[in-house]
This record gives sequence, C-alpha cells and structure tokens, in this order.
Amino acid sequence: AVFHVTDQLGNKITDESLILYIQQALCASRGGISKEVRLCPGRNVTPGLKDLALEMTSKDRPGLVSEISAVLVELGCNITTAVAWTHGTRAASIFYVEDGLEGGPITDPIRLAHVQEQLENVVKAHHEEGEKWSVRLTTPAGGHTHKERRLHQLMYADEDYESCRGCDGSGSSAHKKGCDRTHVYIESCKEKGYWIVNVRSRDRPKLLFDTVCALTDLQYVVFHAVVASRGTLADQEYFVRHKDGYTSNKESERHKLTLCLIAAIERRISQGLMLDLCAKNRMGLLSDMTRVFRENGLSMSRIEIGTR
Ligand SMILES: *[C@@H]1O[C@H](CO)[C@@H](O)[C@H](O)[C@H]1NC(C)=O
Repeated sequence: AVFHVTDQLGNKITDESLILYIQQALCASRGGISKEVRLCPGRNVTPGLKDLALEMTSKDRPGLVSEISAVLVELGCNITTAVAWTHGTRAASIFYVEDGLEGGPITDPIRLAHVQEQLENVVKAHHEEGEKWSVRLTTPAGGHTHKERRLHQLMYADEDYESCRGCDGSGSSAHKKGCDRTHVYIESCKEKGYWIVNVRSRDRPKLLFDTVCALTDLQYVVFHAVVASRGTLADQEYFVRHKDGYTSNKESERHKLTLCLIAAIERRISQGLMLDLCAKNRMGLLSDMTRVFRENGLSMSRIEIGTR
C-alpha cells in the first residue's frame, strides 16, 4: 500500500521524531513500540494494560455518564481512560478503571460482580421491558482491543445502523444517502465475484479507519482499494469479497453493508461544540464535571478522557 499523508492542517510532515514514530508504529507488532515512542504524541490516551474495561451500550439519555462516573467513585474505582460515542438514539461507552486505593486491576470476583450489578442498575434505568442495553466487564487477562475499534464493534452489535434506514426517503436500497451527506453505492461485479463499494463523504481524520472497521465487522475482505481526497470531499472505492469467498447477490446483504458504512462514518461526527479541558486529577472529577453539563441542559455526544 502507498499512502500520501499530510498533517491535519494539510502541511508537509517535517518533524523527524514524528516520522520515526510513524515508522515504528507501522513496523512494530502489537505492543512492540518502546515506551518513549508511545508517549511522544502528547494527546494520545491509551488505557493501561492492567485496567479493567467496562463496556456499555444503551439508549442515550442526559446524565448517563454523570451517573456512571458517580457510581464508579462510590465503588472506589479510578477511571484512567474513557471513551463514549452516541449515534442516533444509542450510546456506547468504555470506561477503563483501576482500583482507587492500591492501583492495579480489580480482581476480587465478589467486587467485580458488585461493580457489574451497580452499573447494570444505572444503565438499564429508563429502559422499557425488552429494550436493548448491555454491560460487560473485560478483565485485562483477555487483552484489550484498540478502544475506538471496540466502540465500533459495540455500536454494531447494538445495531445502531438501523437508525440510518430512511435517512433519505428516495433512492434504491443499494444507493443510499446518509444524514450527513455520506453516499454509499455498491455494485456487484458478477464475473469476478466481488462487490465494488463506493463511499463519498466529507473528508476528516480517521475516515479510512472507520470505513475499514465497518467492512471488517461484516466480514468483508478488501483486495483492492483506491482512496482519494479532494478539498473537503473524500472518495473511497473498495473491491471486496466476503471472508469465506462467496459474494452473495442478496439485496438485503448489500443493504446492510450500506447502512453499516453510513453508521460507521457518522458515529464520530458531532455537530456540537468541542470543549477541551485539562485539570489536576482528583477523586470524583468526572462525575462533578458531567453533572454541571447535565444541570445546564447540555448533552455530550462524544467523550474522550485520559489521565497521566
Ligand atoms: C485515584 O485517584 C485519586 C484522585 O485522582 C488519586 O488521589 C489516587 O492516588 C488514585 N489512586 C491510584 C491508585 O492511583
């Protein structure tokens, strides 16, 4: 693969240490990057390897994060990293926590069960019988997937893409326009046995990552791709086949892939105001801060939190 890259402002990359970082990150196998290198781009927040991951999906509602973080304080858990996305009416979040007193992972099974139970109570509140929600604890032993990759998986499992149905009243199901001007067009190439997937959307950082996540979640393998950006627009073209080799002609599968691609691209988009805050950490900071948002009638559509 050949990638032509600029920095986020569109400028040529000249910083030698950044170039070195990119090289090492691409060449290293998982976890193989030395510590200094990993810490180098300052704002990168990576959960600790020993943190317990609390993964939740539910209906979105005001105050959800504020309540979750208050419960975690009560349970003596320190949040080290947190990410949350909302899409349509759904919300997905991952909180990485460690023991607030001793640090390190929480391993006592009774305590873990208690954390699970308390979080379930918070998350399932305001859900009607039969409405979808989930709370899952992943201990460090299981190994952590990249946090944004995991958010995509959680939202996909939660079927948030269903909300992309009918974003655009007209059009056949194979050609769909998203709510945020994302167009997906899938053509089948019968002789060769693959699909040609065209995605046109606004260009932004991590677009390629988000698109490939959707293809991977639906078990498609890319064997040829062309990606180009022109001004604010990005055009992506993928030649894909299902992992097990067959390419179905079923309209429903093409339609599902279309919806999932739109969802994956829109999850990260927020029309809101971005607030960047850096402060001395203390017990209960997140819960206090998010309560202020809630009391002022603000809702959070995307969150990224790290501690150092
Ligand atoms: C948990 O967080 C509090 C507040 O930031 C801090 O004082 C305490 O040392 C943390 N615990 C551990 C084990 O790092």
